[in-house]
Amino acid sequence: MDSICIRGGVALQGNVCIQGSKNAALPILAASLLTGECSVLKNCPRILDVYAMVSLLQSLGCAVCWQESGIMVDSSGVKCGEMSSEAATCMRSSLCLLGAMLGRCREVVMEHPGGCVIGERPIDLHLTALGQMGVVFSEERGRLHAIADRLHGAEIDLPTPSVGATENVILAGVLAEGDTILSGAAREPEITALCRYLQCCGACIEGAGTDRLVIRGQSRLYGTDFTIPADRIVAGTYLLACMGTGGSAFLERAPGEELTAVMEVAERMGGHFCTSEQGIYVQGPSRPRAVERIRTAPYPGFPTDLQSMALAVEARGNGVTEIEENIFENRFRVVEGLRRMGACIEQTDSRRVRVTGVPFLTGAEVCAKELRGGAALVTAGLMAQGETSVSGCSFVYRGYENICRDFRELGARITSV
Ligand code: UD1
Repeated sequence: MDSICIRGGVALQGNVCIQGSKNAALPILAASLLTGECSVLKNCPRILDVYAMVSLLQSLGCAVCWQESGIMVDSSGVKCGEMSSEAATCMRSSLCLLGAMLGRCREVVMEHPGGCVIGERPIDLHLTALGQMGVVFSEERGRLHAIADRLHGAEIDLPTPSVGATENVILAGVLAEGDTILSGAAREPEITALCRYLQCCGACIEGAGTDRLVIRGQSRLYGTDFTIPADRIVAGTYLLACMGTGGSAFLERAPGEELTAVMEVAERMGGHFCTSEQGIYVQGPSRPRAVERIRTAPYPGFPTDLQSMALAVEARGNGVTEIEENIFENRFRVVEGLRRMGACIEQTDSRRVRVTGVPFLTGAEVCAKELRGGAALVTAGLMAQGETSVSGCSFVYRGYENICRDFRELGARITSV
């Protein structure tokens, strides 16, 4: 089931329910390690990255059980020690187990984490911040060894608002000795969700959702029930697919407030929106207008994870759009596939492309190279005339529970083969 086939040209119509958030679920699953008790995470998405995190938790001694409404993690049996190398290298988010295992066991040995090939993705900010909290790092047969005789609070200033580094400081800080003051923290909604989960477990964190967090270390945490919020990136993907196909749809549970920057851009493309507590109603234009410039930025800016989707939509835009990628330098691997479908895209430098919209895209055989680029090719396939086959879709299933089912609910002719 590695390919997705689409007969495009259908305007999406109807109602679709947005899954739980991948980027919230992964650090919260890691955080469940800290409690030594049972947590039930409702609305946890059934995606490959979550399955990989579950294997890692099991290899560390957690008992994990899927339930109808979510997942139960019992971390009472955690064995401190080495992490299975296989799952750790295939997923960047294994990195948040670094902070969680240090909080729980004060020591961990793990592989250098993998993940999507979208730039160099260094981990220096994680290592420096945790180092300030008393963690000493060394390399052991090519693996990362982290140990803290005394894990303590610190005043940390992140030079770049890294999502992962912010999460690691929080995960290590909630069970450290004393207070950690983190300035320059990332403000992504998934960090707020992690803080809310930890607060339910008894952690003391002030400033969630701002760039200054105060984490007051506690001696222990407790298990809890928590609902994973809806995935703003999946919602944004479907919103932009409606824009590209001229569709109108209701995205149930889509978090309107978290998608403000995306809707601002989509409004300039000619879209109309109505947001409520229940979700977002989207009405796309028959042909998108070209927005002069789209720039990715840390939250609350336009998310890098939706940049490829915006690129796919503007491939049919009425005019020229410049897209500037400011977070990850390798996010333009989707360009080759879009060009095969007739898109006119010129890469002006490593961080910028110029898209000159064409009236219609044409179906083609293309290949997903990473998660969000793969979803963008599927979106382009929905917009295109004729048949598109997207191979390499295991990347897409890392983050989308069932993209084919979701688009079929909106009337698309799409199957996985
Ligand atoms: C997370 C998200 C990813 C999203 C990204 C940016 C998860 C599982 N993944 O990734 O979907 O695209 O945030 O919103 O939540 N950096 C360094 N050194 C470091 C760490 C990061 O230089 O030690 C740089 C990165 O190269 C990048 C920038 O900081 O240019 C932001 O990266 P970061 O926010 O850390 O992204 P992730 O947490 O990996």
